[in-house]
Amino acid sequence: MKKMILPLLILFTAFPFALSAADAAQTIKLPEPDKKGGMPLMQALTERKTTRNFQPGKITDQTLSDLLYAGCGFNRPDKLVIPTAMNRQDITLYVALENGTYRYDGKGNKLDLVAAGDNRSLTGMSKATTSKTLCSFIIVSDTNQFNKEITFPAVHAGAVMQDLYLCCASKGLATVTYGSFDKEGVKKLLKLKDGEVVILTQQVGNFVEADKTAAAPAAK
Ligand SMILES: Cc1cc2nc3c(=O)[nH]c(=O)nc-3n(C[C@H](O)[C@H](O)[C@H](O)COP(=O)(O)O)c2cc1C
Repeated sequence: MKKMILPLLILFTAFPFALSAADAAQTIKLPEPDKKGGMPLMQALTERKTTRNFQPGKITDQTLSDLLYAGCGFNRPDKLVIPTAMNRQDITLYVALENGTYRYDGKGNKLDLVAAGDNRSLTGMSKATTSKTLCSFIIVSDTNQFNKEITFPAVHAGAVMQDLYLCCASKGLATVTYGSFDKEGVKKLLKLKDGEVVILTQQVGNFVEADKTAAAPAAK
């Protein structure tokens, strides 16, 4: 036993991130999204806003599932919550969590690991803020579906973004979308193929007290 302790100590000292990377599950099965309730739509539209400061915390699988559904889930067997031109469904939604970055599988209601480790800092401009996000969404389009023309993919990414904004407003969560971030870094991270374009990121976090709106409910 004693013989084991020294090598283990050396391993953990030399590779402090080895454990956290290994922590990332290959697949995260999500709870069913909660499709009832939430804030009335007109109120969510009124509460929608950009917030760039976050208070650290943890996200629940339920909140994650609800946000992913709002962004790019299926609300009919073969159709998405967001409209896409010719129903091409070119968008893939990724999410960077503390332990890994995952691809959302809306039909399977699960997340599949793409890269282990904490890569939230790639999704925004300020490391101080990005390290505090509950999760960071990455909105990717396979523009090959449109001969690499970006207009429709950009429109679709905008629909995902707005759904995420509204869902965050409904849940009393802070959020910001970014068009400026390390696009090359994200592309490498996600191992995107030719024509797959990272259009926007969207960070979600807990409000700091000063940014809270009186009407916003506590985050679930
Ligand atoms: C397509 C798009 C790209 C954006 N890119 C950034 C960005 O790179 N950095 C940032 O701080 N905010 C970004 N924003 C957020 C806007 O600055 C924000 O929406 C705007 O100031 C209006 O504020 P509001 O969302 O609270 O209405 C972006 C918004 C959109 C729609």
